[in-house]
Amino acid sequence: METQELLLKRRSVYPRQFNGQTIPKEALLQAFEAANWAPTHKRTQPWRFIIYSGDAMNLLIDQWILMAKANLEAKRETWSEAAETKYSYMRNSSHVIVIACHYTGLVPEIEETCATAAAVQNFWLSLHDQGYYGYWSTGNGIFTESMHQYFGLQENEKALGYFLAGQTNDPIPPSIRKAVEENLTWRD
Ligand SMILES: Cc1cc2nc3c(=O)[nH]c(=O)nc-3n(C[C@H](O)[C@H](O)[C@H](O)COP(=O)(O)O)c2cc1C
Repeated sequence: METQELLLKRRSVYPRQFNGQTIPKEALLQAFEAANWAPTHKRTQPWRFIIYSGDAMNLLIDQWILMAKANLEAKRETWSEAAETKYSYMRNSSHVIVIACHYTGLVPEIEETCATAAAVQNFWLSLHDQGYYGYWSTGNGIFTESMHQYFGLQENEKALGYFLAGQTNDPIPPSIRKAVEENLTWRD
């Protein structure tokens, strides 16, 4: 795909559209290679990816369900069939990738957070270009201390999201944007 076309066509594709098929490791490695070429101040390359699939992914999803049930219980609400369906769709992911940032202290934290986001965009575009899809999720306790422990992150590392990746047979859904000019300020 031409670069501009790829940039405009990348979409979030959600687990309800996943067909349960696995993305080949070579395709993921190609996408991680693209991620690895994101720009970083002082070339700290702060992104860390933890890649769950198979049994490990299902255990992670079990953990999400435990957390969701505990949150509901705290609010005295009950588990619904809709929730059950939502999590069963997630099990159709090929991989769940934890996006983490390793803060080196060599540059301000925000710079390494930005660099990690750039790496995710590279990864996402490469994946899309290869015909594989996914989305960046900030649900399922990603920012909690307990999930940081679950992932085995260090003191100077933070999780920034999950990338749920999968294959789909469905058409890629459209998205919307406001007009580009709305966010531009030209000062000539
Ligand atoms: C940092 C970040 C966090 C996101 N978190 C969520 C999320 O928790 N749940 C969700 O449904 N989508 C999430 N998204 C996906 C956005 O909803 C999606 O990118 C947006 O709707 C635009 O759609 P598009 O990616 O198809 O253009 C997130 C995206 C980013 C960049």
